[in-house]
Amino acid sequence: MENASGALVGFARLALDPHQQRAATSGFALRPESWHVGYGWETVSLLLDLVFQDLDLHRVWAARAPFNEASAKTLLAAGMTEEGRIRGHVFVRGAWRDSITYGILRDEWQVSSSLPAQVPPVTTPTE
Ligand SMILES: CC(C)(COP(=O)(O)OP(=O)(O)OC[C@H]1O[C@@H](n2cnc3c(N)ncnc32)[C@H](O)[C@@H]1OP(=O)(O)O)[C@@H](O)C(=O)NCCC(=O)NCCS
Repeated sequence: MENASGALVGFARLALDPHQQRAATSGFALRPESWHVGYGWETVSLLLDLVFQDLDLHRVWAARAPFNEASAKTLLAAGMTEEGRIRGHVFVRGAWRDSITYGILRDEWQVSSSLPAQVPPVTTPTE
């Protein structure tokens, strides 16, 4: 929700991983009219506050499409680390697609009042 207008800018979701101790999977998406403002970083940062501060989890991870450069930058800026690739992870528009995964541990998390992390250049395939 945008403070000034009260408009919904997007959503974030969190699902506890049933086969891991104190771990969860996250996801997020903004409405297109809310892109390029910095709400992506803010959304993920608030989600991480919830994960570590309120729920006292140990680890959270997220996955993005290989070509999703905006998501890569957002996840890195929120302090997450690229961890690898899941081959054939999701079935999208008639084909299996890989995902690039990111994770953050409790020890690595800093409360979101800080600024976005400095993000090195992201290289993504053009497919
Ligand atoms: C991913 C998403 C949350 C990013 O949110 P955002 O608030 O627009 O991100 P920001 O404005 O903070 O931009 C982050 C960076 O990505 C870049 N970026 C934004 N949109 C981009 C695009 N379409 N292509 C390439 N880069 C893009 C920005 O320039 C910025 O780079 P910079 O830090 O070098 O300036 C948003 O684009 C979105 O909701 N996309 C659709 C759903 C989605 O992809 N969800 C994530 C699934 S893992």
